[in-house]
Amino acid sequence: MLNIAIIGLGNIGKNHIKAIPNSKNCRICAVCDSNEELAKQYSESLGFPYFLNYKDIPGGVELDAALITLPHFLHCESAVFFLEKGIHVFMVKPMANTVEECDRMIAAAKANNVKLAIAHPQRFFYANTLVKEFVDSKKLGELCMFTEFRTTDYFTPGRPKWFLNKKQAGGGIVMNFGTHAIDKLFYVLGETKDVDVFASTANIKNDADIEGHAQFMMKFPSGVTGTVTFSGYNSCGYDAIYYFTNGALKISDTSLLYQFKDGKWEKIDTTTSVSPLLYQIEEFCKYVNSEPSIVPDGEFGRDVIVVIEKVYNN
Ligand SMILES: NC(=O)c1ccc[n+]([C@@H]2O[C@H](COP(=O)([O-])OP(=O)(O)OC[C@H]3O[C@@H](n4cnc5c(N)ncnc54)[C@H](O)[C@@H]3O)[C@@H](O)[C@H]2O)c1
Repeated sequence: MLNIAIIGLGNIGKNHIKAIPNSKNCRICAVCDSNEELAKQYSESLGFPYFLNYKDIPGGVELDAALITLPHFLHCESAVFFLEKGIHVFMVKPMANTVEECDRMIAAAKANNVKLAIAHPQRFFYANTLVKEFVDSKKLGELCMFTEFRTTDYFTPGRPKWFLNKKQAGGGIVMNFGTHAIDKLFYVLGETKDVDVFASTANIKNDADIEGHAQFMMKFPSGVTGTVTFSGYNSCGYDAIYYFTNGALKISDTSLLYQFKDGKWEKIDTTTSVSPLLYQIEEFCKYVNSEPSIVPDGEFGRDVIVVIEKVYNN
């Protein structure tokens, strides 16, 4: 049983706290948030020891791994802290704000002989696992193109302020949501290197120093291409289409899957009782135990950030 501490109890940290108690392979040994009210709330309701400073955890409880769900600007420094203490790290996406930070994290994992993995949860959504099966089995022929469009009100007052600050978030909607799109395409293709990128990012709605809308195109060495369109100004849908030589797959709102075959769209059943975050943490445990796992490693997470940097530098 892996003892895991959860560092950061915001929007996504809370969801991990709900998922992990159902794991057969790990248990939560501590929670941490610099917001004392939040840390105490989880500690009191669920009985976990709590910490306000993650640097106090290694001396305070026995732990094997840290699941880090902190704001982007804290990813590198917190990961390196735990890795240097010989503790495995599961870092929420994006791996870090820059490729240089990713390199430091990878080097710290290697130097201390511990594992570093990145939580890219969308590959664990059942609809996406089915897409991967279609790609691998070639049931619809060869995958040739991918397109995703995602719209949302990115500048809603409920969004934590650090997300709207370039220095802290590393970017806007591309850094936050682009990492999901890139992960999905990397995963189904099994290709992550030497991706050509053509991109445009802008913000014409407000004076935040992050982009509010973006389009980018990726071209892989295999010839497969992917286009991504994000608007953070208002919400009018979230769809992805995978184009194959003999048909297509469409995912709407992350969970509805349709297959285009013989001239019509047919719905594919995506009902499942498996929680993506539980599936993901079980894969992380396998990775730590050096068993075959589909959780992305640090090198993969770095390749995602390589593409993100190409988008911003285009
Ligand atoms: N579906 C997903 O994969 C998904 C969804 C949401 C967020 N995320 C990612 O999760 C990360 C966190 O996002 P969020 O929306 O939960 O943010 P958030 O702001 O809601 O949560 C971050 C938490 O970290 C705490 N914190 C900040 N500095 C700290 C420090 N030094 N020590 C301890 N605690 C500290 C804050 O008090 C806050 O509770 C980001 O990397 C984000 O991109 C992933």
